[in-house]
Amino acid sequence: MKKITIQHIKNLKSLKTSFPTITAYDYMSAKIVDEAEIPLILVGDSASMMIYGYDTTIPISMEEILLLTKAVSRGSKRSLIVADMPFLSYQPSIEETIKNAGKLMKEGGAAAVKLEGGVRIKQNVYALVEHGIPVLGHVGLTPQSYHQMSGYKVQGKNNQEAKQIIDDACALEEASAFGIVLECIPEALAEKITNTLTIPTIGIGSGKKCDGQIQVFHDILGYSSDKPPGHAMQYDSLYSSVLKSVKKYKSDIES
Ligand code: KIV
Repeated sequence: MKKITIQHIKNLKSLKTSFPTITAYDYMSAKIVDEAEIPLILVGDSASMMIYGYDTTIPISMEEILLLTKAVSRGSKRSLIVADMPFLSYQPSIEETIKNAGKLMKEGGAAAVKLEGGVRIKQNVYALVEHGIPVLGHVGLTPQSYHQMSGYKVQGKNNQEAKQIIDDACALEEASAFGIVLECIPEALAEKITNTLTIPTIGIGSGKKCDGQIQVFHDILGYSSDKPPGHAMQYDSLYSSVLKSVKKYKSDIES
């Protein structure tokens, strides 16, 4: 089976229809996503909450995301695997950025990495690409800045914020990112960025006008006891059905 390439993802921009992407954090979910022919899997730092039970994406470490990336790589034969770079694994210096991104590729088997930020991390993105490490950008609501943003809120609602997000997206394209996640920005702004850039935009909570969409694996399956975010597209209620099965097992054994 042929692996999806970066060029393939870039070419998806010219499709008339939107393309799906999704997160996965383990071997079996990666197998399922692969079999469903989703072209791109993100080993997202949302694993911080979904897998490790932390409150935000801030605590997850390089070691924790690396373990998950290895498992996803073993499960996926076809999808392009992008690994999220954890908070403070790229902000301190270009050297740290390259060393940590290199680990996710060399040891984890990822084909690319994702970083949050725009203008502020342009040099890091440029250096990664120069060293042969493809980059997916991420602007708008950047969850690693949870405290800086005083919580999770739609970004880019006023002109000044919107201009900053456009500048960030353009900086990432100039630094040769192959695509950009647009998280929780108004649909009209997402459309403007999508029409301005030559690389694909992948939206979450940013309306229907992006080139592609991304969702969190556990959100689409309803596999969480927490209320999903408003933009989650839920197709199942796994948490309650798994709970039912485990309870049934318990009562079978006890009787
Ligand atoms: O970690 C993640 O799941 C993400 C997506 C929401 C884009 O960054």
